[in-house]
Amino acid sequence: MRLSVIGCGYLGAVHAACMAKLGHEVVGIDVDGAKVAALSAGDAPFFEPGLPELLAEALETGRLRFSTDIADAAGSAVHFIAVGTPQKRAENGADLSHVYAGVDALLPHVNAGDVVVGKSTVPVGTARDLSVRISEACPSVTLAWNPEFLREGFAVKDTLEPDRLVYGLDDAASGAQLILDEVYAQALAGGTPRLVMDYETAELVKVSANAFLATKISFINAMAEVCEATGADVSMLADAIGHDARIGRKFLNAGLGFGGGCLPKDIRAFMARAGELGADQALTFLREVDSINMRRRARMVDLAREVCGGSLLGQRIAVLGLAFKPNSDDVRDSPALSVAAQLQLQGAAVTATDPQAVPNASRRFPDLAYTASVEEAVQNADAVLVLTEWEQYCALNPMDLRALVARPAIVDGRNCLDPVAWRDAGWTYRALGRPKAAAVPAPTAAVR
Ligand code: UDX
Repeated sequence: MRLSVIGCGYLGAVHAACMAKLGHEVVGIDVDGAKVAALSAGDAPFFEPGLPELLAEALETGRLRFSTDIADAAGSAVHFIAVGTPQKRAENGADLSHVYAGVDALLPHVNAGDVVVGKSTVPVGTARDLSVRISEACPSVTLAWNPEFLREGFAVKDTLEPDRLVYGLDDAASGAQLILDEVYAQALAGGTPRLVMDYETAELVKVSANAFLATKISFINAMAEVCEATGADVSMLADAIGHDARIGRKFLNAGLGFGGGCLPKDIRAFMARAGELGADQALTFLREVDSINMRRRARMVDLAREVCGGSLLGQRIAVLGLAFKPNSDDVRDSPALSVAAQLQLQGAAVTATDPQAVPNASRRFPDLAYTASVEEAVQNADAVLVLTEWEQYCALNPMDLRALVARPAIVDGRNCLDPVAWRDAGWTYRALGRPKAAAVPAPTAAVR
């Protein structure tokens, strides 16, 4: 099939390359000339495992090309809208200007029978509004809403082998179902469940899935706060409750909390939209989810201050990890970068490193000192902070590192290190939600 993908950011670039891998003929369209030039040369504008190989293969076969000219969408039977929906400036709602601009620019180039497919994360009600706009301009063109659930770092796999396909359709768009089935024939043949529903439910599936994931993370981080107050260990707690199949162990990793381009902005936009719909009470708990999440960052700064003897002023702090999660170079709303910047603001001398995210981080916070290696970052450090659980940081040898630092103090912001191994090597080890080596406080009279 001939497909166009409007918007070539994380979502669109991966989607375009994966659709070409499935055998479709794909044109990716973006207003950013530099991005289009890079993608056309096979260079992914962001770090995503597997994407460079996929781009190279698809460009080589001629099934994939990129363009800045929306007129190149003409001739495609399906047009995916994959543009960004960032948080509005100084507001919690989503900025939909790219979605509307993309659809408006596309409509003069569509043909009768084409299907426009929304993939961007949007506030509920957007699809219905867009479908009216589309049918007024082009009565024989239909809209489907097909949310995307890919995770950065696993984006290629999640797109080629999705765990479910959701089609939001309108009665008038029932023909779109057959067309989408053809687009996703390979996944469907492999047994991927396909759920067909109305526009509103499809939009809500996406935002409620992200709200649930964010809630699960903040739940375990709230437990971490209680663990810190009692000397209990949140990692052991997560393992134990995670054995209950109704709870599950995934997304119960306590630590610095969630960040990135999706979860934080999506829960805020969801609350804002619920408010507009008069259903704000239903989502007040998400405000708490957000504030638990932000408190973890402040707690991390406090722990760094503690291991530095009570003041950050002039302390040399090594920050390992800047990306919002491993296997990504994304620093959007990154808890790690936000902690690093806070420490510097509070008078510490921060040297930060990350296997992939240094260029993006240094564009955002040029004032921090950045270095390429762990060894350089920890040289003469008064404290070492692990803020993103890259595999190589989890595997660091405490003995080797000890020889390099000024003071052997480590704060594990992702609960990815073995406290016993670090303490046995002579380090002061602190973590979010794990006990200090000190004795557990006795219960108060009230709990006895
Ligand atoms: C998320 C959703 O998982 C995906 O389905 C949706 O399409 C987009 O948003 P992504 O932002 O790529 O994907 O990352 P994800 O793996 O969900 O992690 C989000 C954040 O939560 C990261 O900062 C991560 O470090 C944090 N996290 C995750 C935890 O703190 N604890 C966990 O147990 C899991």
